[in-house]
Amino acid sequence: MLKIAVLVSGGGTNLQAVIDAIADGTIANAKIEAVISNNKNAYALKRAENHGIKNICISPKDFESREAFNREFLLKLNSYQVDLVVLAGFLVVIPPEMIAAYKNRIINIHPSLIPSFCGTGFYGLKVHEGALARGVKLTGATVHFVDEGTDTGPILLQKAVAVKEGDTPEILQRRVMEEAEWKILPEAIHLIANGRIAVEDGKAVVR
Ligand code: GRF
Repeated sequence: MLKIAVLVSGGGTNLQAVIDAIADGTIANAKIEAVISNNKNAYALKRAENHGIKNICISPKDFESREAFNREFLLKLNSYQVDLVVLAGFLVVIPPEMIAAYKNRIINIHPSLIPSFCGTGFYGLKVHEGALARGVKLTGATVHFVDEGTDTGPILLQKAVAVKEGDTPEILQRRVMEEAEWKILPEAIHLIANGRIAVEDGKAVVR
């Protein structure tokens, strides 16, 4: 049974997709051990609560220094003894010590087809604003492993979504979530939980 921690900052619709996929068997052999947020008001925490999942808040704002936060954050995460960390709309930079300790065991969902509209500054609606400003006809979502860079780790799964005339960043964001994010994040977790993913030469391979 793969034990998972899900890290969230906001509404938690991706967290909900994972909870639902575990409940209906789309994800087999996995269990959410804890939900961790940097934001005590995140609705994602409520979703965890509603499903009887352990949930905590740890915020950089409550620490004297980033180093102190990073240390405590890693200790907290370690205390849950998870096999996989899922970043589902988590807006805090993952400390380098955590990336090293959880190599190829942290995944992130990004709302574009990486390497488009990713990297520093591309988060939330800004990703979709970028796609609309460039006039791309296809966008989508990507699940990737997290390495030291921003959105640079091995790509696990991607799914394309059409951009339509009249789209606003909000409309496009919603379509990308519904058609791509809520599908490929659970799918990626299922593949990992069932030993179907290997990382070879810096690339994720599905078996
Ligand atoms: C999603 O668009 C995800 O791709 C991005 O942050 C957003 C989180 O939304 N990384 P939610 O909290 O899962 O609803």
